[in-house]
Amino acid sequence: MSQPDVLIIGSGAAGLTAALVLAERCKVLVLAKGALDAGSTAWAQGGIAAVLDKGDTFEDHIRDTMIAGGGLNRRETVEFVVEHAPEAIRRLIEIGVPFNGEEGALHLTREGGHSHRRIVHVDDATGWAVQQALISAARAHPNITMRPEMVAVDLVTDRHMTDHARTGECNERRVWGVYALDNTTGKVECFAARATILATGGAGRTYLFSTAPRGATGDGIAMAWRAGCRVSNMEFMQFHPTCLYNLEVKNFLITEAVRGEGGHLKLPPGVPGGGTRFMQQFDPREELAPRDVVARAIDHEIKRLGLDYVHLDISHKDPEFVRTHFPNIYERLLGLGIDMTKEPIPVVPAQHYTCGGVLIDLAGRTDMAGLYAVGECSESGLHGANRLASNSLLECFVFGDAAAHDILARWDEFAAPPPLRPWDSSRVTDSDEEVVIKQNWTELRRFMWNYVGIVRTNKRLERAAHRIKLLKNEVNEYYGHFRVTADLIELRNLLQTAELIVKSARARRESRGLHFNQDYPRTHPAARDTILVPH
Ligand code: FAD
Ligand code: SIN
Repeated sequence: MSQPDVLIIGSGAAGLTAALVLAERCKVLVLAKGALDAGSTAWAQGGIAAVLDKGDTFEDHIRDTMIAGGGLNRRETVEFVVEHAPEAIRRLIEIGVPFNGEEGALHLTREGGHSHRRIVHVDDATGWAVQQALISAARAHPNITMRPEMVAVDLVTDRHMTDHARTGECNERRVWGVYALDNTTGKVECFAARATILATGGAGRTYLFSTAPRGATGDGIAMAWRAGCRVSNMEFMQFHPTCLYNLEVKNFLITEAVRGEGGHLKLPPGVPGGGTRFMQQFDPREELAPRDVVARAIDHEIKRLGLDYVHLDISHKDPEFVRTHFPNIYERLLGLGIDMTKEPIPVVPAQHYTCGGVLIDLAGRTDMAGLYAVGECSESGLHGANRLASNSLLECFVFGDAAAHDILARWDEFAAPPPLRPWDSSRVTDSDEEVVIKQNWTELRRFMWNYVGIVRTNKRLERAAHRIKLLKNEVNEYYGHFRVTADLIELRNLLQTAELIVKSARARRESRGLHFNQDYPRTHPAARDTILVPH
């Protein structure tokens, strides 16, 4: 493809939604760092929240979102997303997503924090169906080129213009594209475009236990921060209450819909109260309380009783109901020796979603001209201090669409990119110590889990900040001397993201939503977003 008009980094729900809209009027290049379906989108289980039932209202969906969000949501964003949800679902049906039920009477499931049945789904593997439909539609479009195995390293800004292209004042506030490593050749290429959209997903792999895929390393957030964008609310890392506890399979999610359809959380046998439910001691909504509440309750019981896990039990329901509602989970568990129609499932909380990210407005615009951010890498104001279940895919569709329309509407403001400097690898050599990357990666994820997890303290956060500083110095030195590899790029971004998480957590002197600090257990009504500004 000749130079694209718009460059999109990420081929998940957010990136491909934007690509399909833009491609009607311009040439789009989509980069993905692994396979096209390797992001979180393909792993989504429960579904997509939208007001489609007669008894439900936009106002109820808005209220549920804001209750879960602990009062930090931006109401304007919540209204925008909720009101565009039915339209987003209609577009997905148009490209062939086979939701359960029929158009006009889609089957709606229920999840924690929702006051109504509101979740459209494709069995218990919604994300897979959505991702495949988006890829098929993008492949069929002549204006979209998709390049898997391209790892974006850093954004290209005014700073990277050739000396020849520099005329007059250069304020370094404009993005022109990205440098990306071709995994298949080991070469770094410069991709330039009139506008660039970051759709790189979350940063779950900052933590030892996460439901997110391996590539969730916060690349877009780190790149935007390095380029000069503000980043907000990074302390709000969501922990999903029910990840399978299994010594081999460490990140298999058991969808919230299992609780939505009547599953109970119980203490395992062999401890006081073993075999009984415990959520009623924590919240009147019991198993259907928002995620932060349920995850903290499980964490509390695990620590109080010295457990490895708690039980999620839906075996009291009709086995046929369980098998037809959760066919993929049923089969996967059966393969691991657990028959969920007859016995409980051992579960633990695990990192699941990054609520914070690159600060954007209602059109997905960041602080840098020419740069947009959409989906999990962004912070739009939708989730506040805690995301409501199944609002994330929805945000990807609504903001992917909004960013694309904004670019098209303001097309005349987007100049053609100037000549840009190619990537300089003349001063680096191949690494002779790959072990440094593995060691630092493991160390980071372990202390983030232990010190910056579900329950935090000032001392733990201070320890994490100290460790991050040491590792960052080591990795920056390594980065300066050796040729970049995908692992090195990811580790550098993980460390940058971890630093932003810890900085934000230390700045919040209260507990709210997903951020619980034992040294500041109260919520301060006046506290607002944590917005970090790069120097
Ligand atoms: P992703 O789908 O994660 O895609 C990121 C893309 O960016 C990928 O193509 C990746 O290759 C690319 N990328 C990243 N870094 C680079 C780089 N450096 N260079 C080039 N490309 C890069 N949400 C819901 O609403 N409902 C659910 O039921 C639900 N279930 C979930 C279940 C699981 C197990 C998980 C992990 C999440 C779930 N979520 C759910 C959350 C939701 O899936 C994600 O928030 C959403 O899919 C994010 O989409 P995205 O397009 O922003 O990013
Ligand atoms: C789930 O299916 O429990 C995940 C839903 C979500 O993350 O929104």
